[in-house]
Amino acid sequence: MHLTIVTGSHRLDSESLKVGRYLGQRWSQLHPDSDNSLIDLAQTPLPLWDGQHQDLTSNSGKAWGNMVPMLKAADAFVIVAPEWGGMAPAALKNFFLFASSAELGHKPALLVSVSAGISGAYPIAELRSSSYKNNHICYIPEHLIVRQVGGVLNGTDASSPEDQAIRNRADFAINILAAYAKALQPVRASGVTQNKAYPFGM
Ligand SMILES: Cc1cc2nc3c(=O)[nH]c(=O)nc-3n(C[C@H](O)[C@H](O)[C@H](O)COP(=O)(O)O)c2cc1C
Repeated sequence: MHLTIVTGSHRLDSESLKVGRYLGQRWSQLHPDSDNSLIDLAQTPLPLWDGQHQDLTSNSGKAWGNMVPMLKAADAFVIVAPEWGGMAPAALKNFFLFASSAELGHKPALLVSVSAGISGAYPIAELRSSSYKNNHICYIPEHLIVRQVGGVLNGTDASSPEDQAIRNRADFAINILAAYAKALQPVRASGVTQNKAYPFGM
């Protein structure tokens, strides 16, 4: 099994990247038979979607073409969204304009939001309601909200009860994601999801 993590902050060395790396490490420790890769939309930004990305010689096509193999190889995703202005960041919404069922369709995804304070619910609600329709990514019912992110997930060991609590919760969510990853492989292989008449959701 392969996990691909997408971190949505526009900022280099973001807290979202820290969280994404932590979850990738835990995935490897909890599921040593599987591997993972990470796409940081700050280090490898996509230009604003312009309808040209199928042309691999265009700017958007080159940037998108570099990501596609990691997305297609995935059996599961972790999508990390910092809360910015009570929203998911533009880079992540832009990513979902590029993505289609060919890369994300009928694959399970764990949503993770990140807040420097005590917020973090808005990006979860936003992405659950408006990012899946045309690419058919399957958000699992469990999600993570990493609050007070500066004080948690920093080293190998937890530094506080709050840090330990989010680490425990992350392991719980990762194990559920891995179970969905196995469970949805036969759904895709069955062929029922492939219908040229219905490429987009209603
Ligand atoms: C433009 C901007 C808007 C932000 N708005 C919010 C917000 O609405 N709610 C919140 O909890 N944190 C907000 N923050 C703080 C982020 O939670 C904080 O930067 C955190 O580290 C996650 O972002 P990062 O992954 O870029 O580091 C905002 C940060 C930025 C840069």
